[in-house]
Amino acid sequence: MNFLTFGRRSGLRVSELAFGTGNFGTGWGHGAERDEARAMFDGYLDAGGNFLDTADTYQAGQSEVLLGEFIKGQRDDLVVATKYTMGALPGGGAGVSATGNSRKNMMRSVDASLTRLGTDYIDLLWTHLPDGVTPMEEILRGFDDLVRSGKILYAGLSNFPAWRVARADLLAELRGWAPLAGIQIEYSLAERTPDRELLPMAEALGLGVATWSPLGGGFLTGKYRNQDANADARLTKLGMLVHTETNARQTALLDAVTSVAAQVDAPATHVAIAWLLARARRSTTGIVPILGSRTRAQFDATIGALALKLDDTQLQQLDDASAIPLGVPHDQAASSTASLNGRKTVAPRVVPVV
Ligand SMILES: NC(=O)c1ccc[n+]([C@@H]2O[C@H](COP(=O)([O-])OP(=O)(O)OC[C@H]3O[C@@H](n4cnc5c(N)ncnc54)[C@H](OP(=O)(O)O)[C@@H]3O)[C@@H](O)[C@H]2O)c1
Repeated sequence: MNFLTFGRRSGLRVSELAFGTGNFGTGWGHGAERDEARAMFDGYLDAGGNFLDTADTYQAGQSEVLLGEFIKGQRDDLVVATKYTMGALPGGGAGVSATGNSRKNMMRSVDASLTRLGTDYIDLLWTHLPDGVTPMEEILRGFDDLVRSGKILYAGLSNFPAWRVARADLLAELRGWAPLAGIQIEYSLAERTPDRELLPMAEALGLGVATWSPLGGGFLTGKYRNQDANADARLTKLGMLVHTETNARQTALLDAVTSVAAQVDAPATHVAIAWLLARARRSTTGIVPILGSRTRAQFDATIGALALKLDDTQLQQLDDASAIPLGVPHDQAASSTASLNGRKTVAPRVVPVV
């Protein structure tokens, strides 16, 4: 596996694929028992990975406990990221004060995560999602205190809109607080809306990007076209975070993925991940897909994507089938700029890099 820095403004070295441990444990009634989780963890490390993603809430705390057990003896070689906001208890925390983005919940949650993970520092702490009330200043000042105390090394925002991230990034810089290392967002062939604002923002600001649900929750494997495959799958057992084939656009996308898979004689999973890796390699900041297998067999059937290189025609076929309208103001701006340049009212110029 190749390594990159997580964003242009951080020296944190991460592997080009992260591994998500949302399936470590059975606290949600659908996941992996300890031995299966251990087998996935070992497979990921054997493949050269070092970047592990968990959250206080995953499997009601079991994910952090299992990950903590597995990282023993190799803690400093690994980059461990976790999240706070939703709480670790079934149903989402111990009460209104033990959920959300507040400083109180952040500090409480980090201490609880450190205990479950059996470590004295977290490499990267994410605010899991906006709670709709906590001011950004409170989140950033909390991150800064945690960095200064050594409990966390880096911090980032997961599932926040671009305008809030951009404002937060500038606030941290102007106030001299710990900078944001990056963002975590859903991104895949099945979900390309980050092309509008989030990815251009990360590119411009040099933020690292961790992308979740690289297979659309299982949709891009194509297995939901085969009803037999549904019995033990997330769609039927967990019923959340899964794209489904509900319109002509999604049918066309799965047709394109299947067609490219046939051309390269590889499974659809390889095609979906290889497309993401190709997109990541075109980025000047670090984009890192987070794999999310539930069994070792699924992991083995996915990791081979590292060896698959799609050609330009195949990438274009997938781009075309998955593209979304960028909408206002991007589409208008693009056509206006083209027409202005066509009339040569804007002289092309080379901007020196200083
Ligand atoms: N920040 C956030 O809000 C957020 C949200 C979601 C996820 N995440 C992170 O991102 C990670 C990955 O997300 P994800 O689990 O949604 O990723 P994903 O790769 O899109 O979906 C993974 C699911 O697809 C199915 N699958 C995977 N490989 C397969 C294969 N080879 N054959 C057939 N089915 C296969 C499995 O589901 P079944 O076997 O159950 O069908 C598996 O649980 C999570 O673990 C977590 O760390 C973060």
